Amino acid sequence: NAQLDSALQESYQELKKRAEDLRASRERIVAAGDAERRKLERNLHDGAQQHLVALAVKVKLVKNLIEADTHTAKAMLEELGGDVQEAVQQLRDLAHGIYPPILVDRGLGPALESAVMKAALPTTVVADGVQRHRQEIEAAVYFCVLEALQNAGKHAGEGASAVVSLKEEPGALLFEVADDGAGFDVKAKALGAGFTNMSDRVGSIGGTLDVWSELGKGTKISGRIPL
Ligand SMILES: Nc1ncnc2c1ncn2[C@@H]1O[C@H](COP(=O)(O)OP(=O)(O)O)[C@@H](O)[C@H]1O
Ligand SMILES: [Mg+2]
Repeated sequence: NAQLDSALQESYQELKKRAEDLRASRERIVAAGDAERRKLERNLHDGAQQHLVALAVKVKLVKNLIEADTHTAKAMLEELGGDVQEAVQQLRDLAHGIYPPILVDRGLGPALESAVMKAALPTTVVADGVQRHRQEIEAAVYFCVLEALQNAGKHAGEGASAVVSLKEEPGALLFEVADDGAGFDVKAKALGAGFTNMSDRVGSIGGTLDVWSELGKGTKISGRIPL
């Protein structure tokens, strides 16, 4: 009976800990959402919004000039055209950073192929037979892979390269980011905000994340998303 008691006590403690982890993870997800919105607001304010305000002023000037000084007005219109292009480009870049259109249009494989072209270390993508999935799933995998690649770029060291693999098996989507760089001591190192974000993202869709690394042998981040 005492044994049963202590077993019960143990599962109770375990449940309590999981409930607490879950609450903390929800809180982080909400805070991260708010921080993203603030960043967006700043980017829009300092970028496209400034451009458009300046444009509005120039349009007024041209309107006043158009009869008195057609020549200058024409030159200003020319300039306005360029300004509009610039504002459009800025909005486009911003939209890409928020959510890459290629992920929505063509799915994980092509989106990652396109992302690794900008990676800080040489990276290959292997993603054969990966189907389209719900947007939360595709976004979680995409942003986790990007974070893992950013880490590899920052911490794997000179001369390292990386491989991103995606594959599907019945009931699960698997992803892995492996590099052959410096590695780190997983037990000794307190995992930072990047890893916390990755596990929150993967956890929010019921998946699991694994980190394997050994000094001098590289790092492997793998995730499993139930389908
Ligand atoms: N691919 C990697 N190679 C070597 N070390 C890594 C790698 N990925 C993560 N690390 C180590 O794990 C730590 C925690 O990573 P992370 O949570 O993303 O935080 P950050 O990237 O902001 O330092 C890093 O500071 C680094 O020491
Ligand atoms: Mg990081």
